[in-house]
Amino acid sequence: MSDIKKIKKEYLEELNKELSLDKVNQIKTELFGKNGLISNEFKKLGALAPQERKQFASDLNFIKEELQENISKKFKELEIKEINEKLKNEKVDITLPERSFEQGKIHPVSQVIDEISSIFSEIGFSVEEGPDVENEYNNFTALNTPENHPARDMHDTFYLDDKKELLLRTHTSPVQVRTMLKGNPPFKIIAPGRTYRSDSDQTHAPMFHQVEGLHIDKDINMGNLKGCLNYFIKEFFEVDKIKMRFRPSHFPFTEPSAEVDIGYELRDGKIVIGEGDKWLEVLGCGMVHPNVLKNVNINPEKYQGYAFGIGIDRLGMLKYGINDLRAFFETDYRWLNHFGFDPLDVPSNYRGLSR
Ligand code: PHE
Repeated sequence: MSDIKKIKKEYLEELNKELSLDKVNQIKTELFGKNGLISNEFKKLGALAPQERKQFASDLNFIKEELQENISKKFKELEIKEINEKLKNEKVDITLPERSFEQGKIHPVSQVIDEISSIFSEIGFSVEEGPDVENEYNNFTALNTPENHPARDMHDTFYLDDKKELLLRTHTSPVQVRTMLKGNPPFKIIAPGRTYRSDSDQTHAPMFHQVEGLHIDKDINMGNLKGCLNYFIKEFFEVDKIKMRFRPSHFPFTEPSAEVDIGYELRDGKIVIGEGDKWLEVLGCGMVHPNVLKNVNINPEKYQGYAFGIGIDRLGMLKYGINDLRAFFETDYRWLNHFGFDPLDVPSNYRGLSR
């Protein structure tokens, strides 16, 4: 009888006996450990002539499988035996009080960012990020907002040094600059994140959230912008029809520029999006200004596109009926318990997990 057949016979007999867990573990090591009997047989394969090798490898594999199956079976048997013994000998004390645990909630802003990201990713946008502390070049100059431009005042910037070189970004638009500087067109990105302005009342907080959108390619026009925003608003508010209007506006980094309002009505004190004759401003947008493209080394004759900036907190307030923006950032647990989301509370239009 060949070596491997002997090994097989001997160990199968052994495994047929009543064994302890330690013994089965020992057998496993003896056979399949680093210097195990079967492991060593495999090492011999290399030295065999090709024809012999094929037959031997096949025999060896069969034996290996058979032994492994028997070892697994033994482990299972032992496991069942152990459970049965426990059931016989141990009692469960059902009078013990349960262990309490606390489950956290997802902040509405995080929830809304997730929803926005998944909606835009459906139509090919990827997500970019930029730092909260920006330099004035990315936040203003590259965005066609030169020194002394009134927009720098308009933004009520928090500067971080006397020379006004570092600041807390006043919008997410500098991520446009960062993205375009580090790659080549086409670009199709959104950039959600924190933004800062020196402002505080019921609808303005000094720190708030925006999501930037940027789509640069050949032949992108305002029709693409409208189509994209129309799709987004409908998906976000989970309605089939919306009323949307583009109002001419001004941003130094877009030309033409527009602000977008969506139609709503108040029904029993609740905001219903998509109907009625009231208008709410939700975002700023426009076609990226040629000067911005030049500043990031893109030829505006060849490439153009649109950009938009949406107030995330504002959208969340509208969708989830929250009426004071400042409460978002006061970290009051009672508020978070009420308005927060359970980790597995997946809204119907959320694609992040289910697809
Ligand atoms: N950055 C602008 C703001 O904060 C919004 C915007 C972004 C407008 C992109 C046009 C294009 O108000």
